[in-house]
Amino acid sequence: MKGIILAGGSGSRLYPLTLVTSKQLLPIYDKPMIYYPLSVLMMAKIRDILIISTPTDLPRFKALLGDGSKFGIRLSYAKQDKPEGLAQAFIIGKKFIGKDACALILGDNIFYGAGLINHLENSVRRAERYNRSTIYGYYVDNPTRYGVIELDKDNNPVHIEEKPKHPKSNYCVTGIYFYPNDVVKMVNKVKKSARGEYEITTLNNLYLDQKRTHMTLLGRGYSWLDTGTHDALNDASNYVQMIEQHQGIKMACPEEIAYVNKWINKSTLIKIAKSMSKNDYGDHLLKVANGKIIYASSVRDER
Ligand code: G1P
Repeated sequence: MKGIILAGGSGSRLYPLTLVTSKQLLPIYDKPMIYYPLSVLMMAKIRDILIISTPTDLPRFKALLGDGSKFGIRLSYAKQDKPEGLAQAFIIGKKFIGKDACALILGDNIFYGAGLINHLENSVRRAERYNRSTIYGYYVDNPTRYGVIELDKDNNPVHIEEKPKHPKSNYCVTGIYFYPNDVVKMVNKVKKSARGEYEITTLNNLYLDQKRTHMTLLGRGYSWLDTGTHDALNDASNYVQMIEQHQGIKMACPEEIAYVNKWINKSTLIKIAKSMSKNDYGDHLLKVANGKIIYASSVRDER
């Protein structure tokens, strides 16, 4: 399974914040925004990841994340000269994907919830073994801003409408998608929309028409945070701060995920922690390295 993070766009809705930096490099409380989607792919156990961004911003992502070895992963980079829609990721990423299945996550999407790992692993399996795609649905009060899922009487997805005036449900498609390898062929059938974009919604509808899509519903207990406006950005930071302070953990910490996944060893983790010059983030990594944090997956269920 490969993974793509789409971190392009001009971020114009956040001007002047994004006049000289990429939106996906802005802070969400204590870490750059891209750490959040990167962590999600790593939680799905995806180790080959392509970051797509603008020619101007790409060097900044490379400076931040390098070749990925500090996270025990392999990062590649590709530029999107003009933003021509989310599905363009599979045109740009065709060679990178090769013969594998592929996930796409938007670089400005934040997901949080205890059962997420299971859902992610199921999505990977569905794509690799059963040739099926997965979309993630989420209840919203303002569906006209999103891709909206039309559901049948058993709540199975039948069709998606992009930013409809009269939405058929309150369930929208979030910015994480899993596809089998034929996505590189399916994307060739996607024609540009009226707004000049290769729409992810058109691609998703091709899979839906072939009855090859599963909708994972992120219901109660999950948060999907938007970062598209100044208020939303600030809210996301406050949300992360609140969770981290109340629970004494860190969200979306790639070094921690790499260590738990056994992709980096204890001495590497300690080295990284110490390079953080005695801050909160470094302290957290030391707690992880010293076994102070117990993970739910390592606690056996009693009968
Ligand atoms: C895109 C998709 C839309 C989806 C949304 C999720 O919209 O086109 O289907 O619901 O991401 O964030 P955009 O926000 O790029 O307009």
